[in-house]
Parts: sequence; structure tokens; C-alpha cells
Amino acid sequence: MKIRWGIIGCGGIARRRTMPGLVLAKNAELVAVMDTNAVFAEECKAQFGAKYAFSNLEEMLALDEIDAVYIATPVFCHKEQVFAAADRGKHILLEKPMGMTSAEAEEISDYCDKKGVRLSIGFMMRFHAYHEEAKRLIKEGVIGDIVSVRSQFCCWYPDIPGAWRQDKAKSGGGALIDMGVHCIDLVQDITGLRAKEIAAFCETQTFHYSVDDSATLLMKMDNNALCVVEANFNIPDDAVTGKIEIYGTKGSIRADGTLGQEEVGTLQVFRSDDSKGYDPSQERIEIVPMEVNVPTGNMYTKEVERFGDAILNHTASPVPAAEAIFVQKITEAAYRSSDEKRFIEV
Ligand SMILES: NC(=O)c1ccc[n+]([C@@H]2O[C@H](COP(=O)([O-])OP(=O)(O)OC[C@H]3O[C@@H](n4cnc5c(N)ncnc54)[C@H](O)[C@@H]3O)[C@@H](O)[C@H]2O)c1
Repeated sequence: MKIRWGIIGCGGIARRRTMPGLVLAKNAELVAVMDTNAVFAEECKAQFGAKYAFSNLEEMLALDEIDAVYIATPVFCHKEQVFAAADRGKHILLEKPMGMTSAEAEEISDYCDKKGVRLSIGFMMRFHAYHEEAKRLIKEGVIGDIVSVRSQFCCWYPDIPGAWRQDKAKSGGGALIDMGVHCIDLVQDITGLRAKEIAAFCETQTFHYSVDDSATLLMKMDNNALCVVEANFNIPDDAVTGKIEIYGTKGSIRADGTLGQEEVGTLQVFRSDDSKGYDPSQERIEIVPMEVNVPTGNMYTKEVERFGDAILNHTASPVPAAEAIFVQKITEAAYRSSDEKRFIEV
């Protein structure tokens, strides 16, 4: 059995990544595409072999042939579109960040519960095989107790007149809410730890828009581990790799180049029980990292397939709304911490 999909906002990430991934998913069938830009909708219909193209949302949602929608529109459109889709009984895969604020994200989740439709959020990087492997190794205790994590996800995003992401009233924020959320989600998902206290600096140093182009966030986790997240819009794409490094009392796991839109990069595991004890000269025994080679695939295909399986088998959503709401609360706490120059509990 297949989930029959409709796409809301097909011209951006949907066209670039999610629809090419969706058409490869075993349990998915692309039925309709919708975009307020009718040309984008018609082009995507032809490119991906959809049956229908719409520029009006209600017309697409009226189709009985659609079981689920994928919403990939600017953030300020999310809530209204989720409500409209839930009113029509469609299950929803919603792009990150869920809403403009955590309060809006909660409303979105509550409404889907009330209408009895399933909701999953677009943190597809969870499904990178290396991130799943890192999570498995940490659960096995391979690097001991986690004490420190660093994650970085950046791009080059100069001033573009009219860009919704650069307007706080349409995006809810800048580099942190757009890119940093992936890091925050991965830190918590891979380690199983939860943030309890936040300190951050969020700045606009390079460009002239109303949102942050640079954000550095420090999270104290529930086991007291200290985690740093860096999100920037002002570092050239070629000058930085999306990464997560997790350090524990028995070693480290370092994924480099794994944060992004392709399932690529490297995963290395360094193990040492430091049985030599305290060494004042801090001589390093050469540890040869264990290169982890698990098969990779397409994160967007997995995202669609796993949500489809959850709907068909009545199991938990692969990225539960509650976890994405918490990520949004952390983001908000970071903006507040930066504005008010103090630590914020979450
Ligand atoms: N998970 C990822 O890899 C990833 C990557 C990029 C963006 N995103 C998220 O996806 C969402 C969209 O971002 P994007 O980069 O694709 O934006 P975009 O501006 O490139 O594309 C948005 C599309 O939505 C259309 N649109 C605008 N208003 C609409 C409306 N009211 N109804 C229907 N269509 C409408 C636009 O015409 C455009 O085609 C955001 O939430 C963003 O954070 C996720």
C-alpha cells in the first residue's frame, strides 16, 4: 500500500531535494503539486510525473486521492496551511522550523491531534546513515559519558531584496532558526541528552537584513555536558563543512561534512580509555580512528518512507512534533539570552 502525496510549495527545497527523494520512496506516490506560482507547479508536475498541478491550496486539498501533504513554504505560511490540510484529514510532513514561534508550533501540533492527523517534522538529517550509526554507538557506550559536543552548519547568504528568510516577520529569525535548528536537533537526537540551560550570542555582523547572520549557542544538557552550536549565513559554502563532534570520557565520534542536503561526509570513531592515567606531558598515543562505513542513501527518500510507514502501521512519527517544539523553545531561549545578556532555562 502507498501513501498518495500532495506537495504544498513545490518551487524550493521540494523541487531540489524532497520530490526527487519522494519519487524513489517504496511506499509513496506523487499525486499533486501546488504552488502560488503556477509556473513552478506546472513545471514540477511535468518534471516529477504528478497527475495534477494547482495554484490554489483548497482545490488540491479537496482531492480524495491525497492521503498526505508535504509543506515546504516560507515559515509564516506553515500554520495556516497545516490547519487547512488537517481540516481535510490529510497527514502532514512539515518543514522545519515548525512555526514562527514555539507557541505557534504547539498550536500546530495540538490542531493535528484534535483533527486526528499524523504530523512529522522535516529534520531529515536524523536519517543520515552516519548520524544513525553515531547514535547507535553512543547508546552502546562506545565513547563513555558524553561531556562535550560541537556542531556547525553554515552557508553564504548575502542580502537579497525581498527574500522571506531575511525578513524576521516572515522567517521568525535568521541563521539560528534556519540552519542552527538542524544542529540542535541532531545534538539531542544522537546523544539522547536534552538541553536544560542556554547561553547565546546572535548577531548581524556582515549583512544588512533584520535577522541574525551569525549565532553561537551554548547548551548545558541534562547530564551537564556542554554543547556548542554555530550557525552562520556569512561563511562561504566552500570554506566550511557541516559537522558534529561528540566527545566522551572514553573517546570521540566525529562526523564531518554530514550536515547538508546530501548523504555524504565521513564518520570517525576515536577510542581511548586513557588507562595510562594522568600524564602531565599530555603525550598522545596515536589513536587510529575507526572509519565507519555504513551504506548511505537519500535522506529525503528515508524521511518520506519512514513517515509513510508510520502512517500505514500506526507507529510513532519519525520526527515527533514534541521534539521539534522543544528545538524551537531552545532557539527562542537563545535569542532571548542574546538580547537580555543572561542564561535562560528551558
Ligand atoms: N530540510 C531541508 O533540507 C530544508 C532546506 C531548505 C529549506 N527548508 C525549509 O523548507 C521551507 C521552504 O524553504 P525553501 O528554501 O524551499 O523556500 P523557497 O522560497 O525557495 O521556496 C518556497 C516555495 O513556496 C512557494 N510559496 C510561497 N508562498 C506560498 C503559499 N502561500 N502557498 C504555496 N506556495 C507558496 C514559493 O513560490 C516557492 O516555490 C522552509 O520552512 C525552510 O526552512 C528545509
